[in-house]
Formats: sequence, structure tokens, C-alpha cells
Amino acid sequence: MTEVATNALCASSLTPAHDVDGAGSQVTSVSRAKSVTSANFSNGCGYGQTLISRALRNRVQQVDAYSCAAGGEDSFFVADVGEIYRQHVRWKLNLPRVEPFYAVKCNPDVKILKLLARLGTGFDCASKKEMDLVMSLGVSPSRIVYAQPCKAASFIRYAAQRELRKMTFDNAEELYKIKRYFPSAELLLRIVTDDSGALCQFSMKYGAALQSTATLLKLAQDLELNVIGVSFHVGSGAAGGKPFVDAVRSACKVFDEAAALGMTLSTLDVGGGFCDDNFEEIAGVLGPALDAYFPPSVRVIAEPGRYYVASAFTLAAHVIARREVPQLARVMLYLNDGVYGNMNCILFDHQQPVVRVLTHAGRFMYGDAENSSGLVKASVWGPTCDGIDCVTSECNLPYVLEVGDWVYFNGFGAYTLSAATGFNGFNDKCDVVYVCSEYGARLLLEE
Ligand SMILES: Cc1ncc(COP(=O)(O)O)c(C=O)c1O
Repeated sequence: MTEVATNALCASSLTPAHDVDGAGSQVTSVSRAKSVTSANFSNGCGYGQTLISRALRNRVQQVDAYSCAAGGEDSFFVADVGEIYRQHVRWKLNLPRVEPFYAVKCNPDVKILKLLARLGTGFDCASKKEMDLVMSLGVSPSRIVYAQPCKAASFIRYAAQRELRKMTFDNAEELYKIKRYFPSAELLLRIVTDDSGALCQFSMKYGAALQSTATLLKLAQDLELNVIGVSFHVGSGAAGGKPFVDAVRSACKVFDEAAALGMTLSTLDVGGGFCDDNFEEIAGVLGPALDAYFPPSVRVIAEPGRYYVASAFTLAAHVIARREVPQLARVMLYLNDGVYGNMNCILFDHQQPVVRVLTHAGRFMYGDAENSSGLVKASVWGPTCDGIDCVTSECNLPYVLEVGDWVYFNGFGAYTLSAATGFNGFNDKCDVVYVCSEYGARLLLEE
């Protein structure tokens, strides 16, 4: 986190959200959250958009591409931490029974983790580094689930040292390993799901087949291990509510199998997969399914990642070069961020980023309706030497952009900066300029 970033939070947070629209209640916060999400981006409307716009403008105005030091025009994020706060309130309203354990892998930005910790969420960690990061913020190990069914023995020993007990498993080998290194761990049996409609699928890699769960429970019992419940993940970017309901039903059967063995399970972990644009749809069927299949005594947790952070981050990148290739009938634009950087989501997360013009010929265009459409055909490329580093092979822009112009990308908080590489020596840790459109979030961060 840079000095720029920290100062930006203070400077842009001076006006609390409820001063602007005269409403400070949680319900108002939630409806505002829905109105500014990436799915229905409202082109500059709303306080969050105003702050993001201001931060983008300030930052690009500070860059003189003709004289700056090497990397002075690097890409950067603007993150509205108020959006994280709104997503949390929205979660609480729509899924009051389900405790979110934020999936750190999705975006390990420390300020976001700090805010979530202060909002009282738990955390899903998959490695020692993620555990250390979260615990360094004062989060108790009891608020962490080590949600990785296939773990290195050394990481299990580390979890044991730190008394970080909750962890998942999905096979017999893992049970023997846990017996050896952390026999008092609290185990969640991860089951397979139908994730065929999801953006990113995991069931080819993780999750016990439903035919094997009774045997695994019996083995855990024979080994005198402490199975506390069941977990699942319906795939990241779930298609809708049905996979969740099916998985809840399957989990209920595993609870019954455990009961038949004389084991009492207490926890259900419904994983991640929630999106900004289908959250209410999922919550609308998941909540009732949980109540139908599980008594109130069962604790329900979840591991949302994308839902919390995707819409909060905007990425700005600089046009560093341009080639005109008449045969192609389109201009080739080269940015200083690409597939090896923050746009790794194109490869790893199946995203197709929409290129929007931020500045052209000195004109600032954030939020303009026409900034991602027009008659100019362009292909857009990242800065590395690799041909795979293509942001989009074809898009329509309102202008032939020039070297020195800026473009931006909305909804860039999930699975972007967490997997950026330094390939070819380009920047893998770009600045984040923080703004805060929610008074509550600002107070929590100032504590
Ligand atoms: C075990 C686990 N939990 C949670 C998540 C977060 O999923 P999402 O971002 O779809 O909510 C992931 C994503 O990879 C995961 O592997």
C-alpha cells in the first residue's frame, strides 16, 4: 500500500455518504449498493461514482507521460471501500443466517481485509501466507477456515501451532495426515457439487463423491477425528440458485449419514460462488433451503470472494503505444497492463474486460455513455512480449486513441491483483487509490 493510497482515503472521505443524500440508515445503504454495482453501473451517478471519478482524475492529472520517471504512468486501481461495506450490509439483509468468511485469495488487499475484519466477517485462507496476513490484523484463528481440502503437511503443522482448527478434507489420505499432525482439528467434509454452469469449476479437482462420504465419515470416526460438518463450493461465478439448493440437499444427506454413525455435525459451509448481479436470486432460494433442511442449531458459514470485492475496484491503464495496420482495418493499442498483470482474469477467470476511454486529447470521460462504443475498431494489447497478452482482439471505441491517453475497466476487484505477475519485469504491485463512499466504513477504518 503506498503513501498515495493512504492519503487518498483520507482526502476523499471527508464528506460522509449520508451527508450527501441525507440518509444514513442501513436499508438506504443497501439500495444504494445495488444501484452502483458493476452489473447496472450507472455512469457517474451516486456518491461512490463521484469519488471514483475524482480520484481517477486527480491521479491521471498528476502524471506527465512526457517527463515522468520510468513507471510513473503505471496502471493503478481506485477502490471504493464503501462498496465493500454496502455488500456486507446487503449480505446481512439477504442471508442473515449465513456468516461470511471472506475468501482472501480473491483479493488480499490489506485495507479491504481490515475493513472486513472490523465488520466481523471470518476469513477463508488457503495457505500459510493468507493465514499470517489475516492473523496479523488481529483476527482470531477461530474466525478462519483453512478451506483447502488437499494441504501440505507443513501447513497443517503450522495451523496446529497457531490453533487454527477449522479445515476441510475430501479424501482418506488427508484424514491420515490430519490424524498425524493435528488430531484435534475441526473438520469439514467437502462434497462434490454440480458446478457445470459456473464460470470457474472446481469439482473436477475437489469434493468427495456422494457415494464415498459415509466411508470417509466412518474412517474419521475410527481415527477419533473431530468432524464438525460439511462444506461445498458450487463453482466461482455460479449460474444461479439451483446448484446451491442441490448442494444443500446433498449436505443434508451427509448430516444424516453422520447421525447414523452416532456423530453430531454442527456446521455447514456453503462456500463461495455468489456474484454481484445474481446475489438476491441465490439468496432467495438458498436461505429457505437452509431453513428447510437444517435446524437453527446448525451454524451456517460461507466463503464469498467475488461478491464482496468485484464491483469495488476500477483499473486505469495508460496507452503506451499504438500501431496502425491498414490491412487489419483496426488500430492496435498497447497498454501498460495486460494478461500477465491485473488482466490475468482474462485467462484465469474467463473475463472479457470492457475497454472504456478515461481520457482522450485532454478530455476526461469517466462515466460518459459513449466511452466504450463507437466506430473506431481497435485491438488492445498488454505490455509484455508475448502474443497471448491480448486484452481484446476487437472492440469499438469512440476515438482513435493516442499514446498518453488512459482507459479504464469497471468491476475489476476479483481475481485480478491477487494473481498479477511481474513477467518481463513489468509492475506486479500497482498502486491502489482508496476512496470511501460510506461513512460507516470510514469510521471502522479510522478506529
Ligand atoms: C475453497 C474456496 N472458497 C471460496 C472461494 C471463493 O469463491 P468466489 O469468489 O466465487 O466466492 C474459492 C475460489 O476459488 C475457493 O476455492
